[in-house]
Amino acid sequence: MRRLLVTGGAGFIGSNFVHYVLDNTDDTVTVLDKLTYAGNRASLAGLPEDRFRLVEGDICDGDLVNSLFDEHDAVVHYAAESHNDNSLTGPAPFIQTNLIGTFTLLEAARRTGIRYHHVSTDEVYGDLELDDPARFTESTPYNPSSPYSSTKAGSDLLVRAWVRSFDVQATISNCSNNYGPRQHVEKFIPRQITNLIDDVRPRLYGDGLNVRDWIHADDHSSAVLRILDAGRIGETYLIGADGEKTNRQVIELILDAMGKSRDAYDLVNDRPGHDRRYAIDWSKLHEELGWTPQYSDFSTGIVDAVRWYEENENWWRPQKAATEKKYAETGQ
Ligand code: NAD
Ligand code: DAU
Repeated sequence: MRRLLVTGGAGFIGSNFVHYVLDNTDDTVTVLDKLTYAGNRASLAGLPEDRFRLVEGDICDGDLVNSLFDEHDAVVHYAAESHNDNSLTGPAPFIQTNLIGTFTLLEAARRTGIRYHHVSTDEVYGDLELDDPARFTESTPYNPSSPYSSTKAGSDLLVRAWVRSFDVQATISNCSNNYGPRQHVEKFIPRQITNLIDDVRPRLYGDGLNVRDWIHADDHSSAVLRILDAGRIGETYLIGADGEKTNRQVIELILDAMGKSRDAYDLVNDRPGHDRRYAIDWSKLHEELGWTPQYSDFSTGIVDAVRWYEENENWWRPQKAATEKKYAETGQ
């Protein structure tokens, strides 16, 4: 049994990880989360009180972070400002949370020597052309495009330096686009599903041909747990599930699942600096740690996601109007 501290555990992927850990291990979990617009207490409702607690606070608060590190055996760091579009309209919180927040955690990890896993993104590698046979590997050079991805890249480099210079017991993972329950309605898949529930036509940026490499959030969680248990200190592991799809292909699956015509969507203003394609080679994680994704059928996963948003309107409705108001300001 381990005492795990999970930062950002009230967000999308962090909350899925917390549920996964409590369902699949004997570990106890403390979530440290600032409950920004992206954090939601409801995502952690009903968890066992003897094994779970939520601490509302900021990862940039050194005193709080230090006291929590003293009480735990390992930390998994998910907390971040995570949305590219927000980073284009207001980058300041990305610098603060993603860089200063990570620095604060690393200093506490250095002092206490506890195990630290850093959750990051494939976006640190920039993008690929549509017809490029290459996929990202652990040795692809960093080349981030947006304020969001550049702060994530910077945070990864801080981790690498703290491992090398101070022997911090850290690993890093860089994962592709996640889908699943409890994802904020600002993100592509939940936004379009909830627009359709509201009889609003889906909105695709640019020509709709950008490619993302989709993975179910539970597969991300099982990979992170495997790295935490068996990953080599100082190593980076890419996480993916061979889920490359254009945004048009994704929207067609959503429209099918919701009984609408496949062409019932609109093309709108593109995202400035929009990455064209991401693709992950996850062979290192498979060969070294024996991990394999379990959710191989994306179309079934999309049907499940549609049902989740249809059945959990209480969860997402409070954020919907404010999110769409922001998009209206950029014509998206
Ligand atoms: P999210 O926006 O849904 O959740 C982020 C959480 O962090 C929220 O609960 C928020 O309240 C919390 N938070 C933000 N600032 C904080 C601060 N200063 N102190 C404490 N808590 C704070 O994000 P997500 O999509 O779940 O992403 C989680 C992590 O996974 C991020 O590090 C992201 O870079 C990474 N990631 C995401 C994806 C993806 O597809 N969403 C893919 C790969 C990696
Ligand atoms: O690759 C991992 C990254 O995936 C994570 O690091 C980020 O935290 C996460 O937000 C996600 O980034 P993306 O920018 O790829 O995700 P988003 O859901 O914002 O957009 C997915 C694709 O859909 C992208 O090509 C932009 C497009 N899009 C998005 C929205 C919100 C649209 O076409 N229309 C939309 O309304």
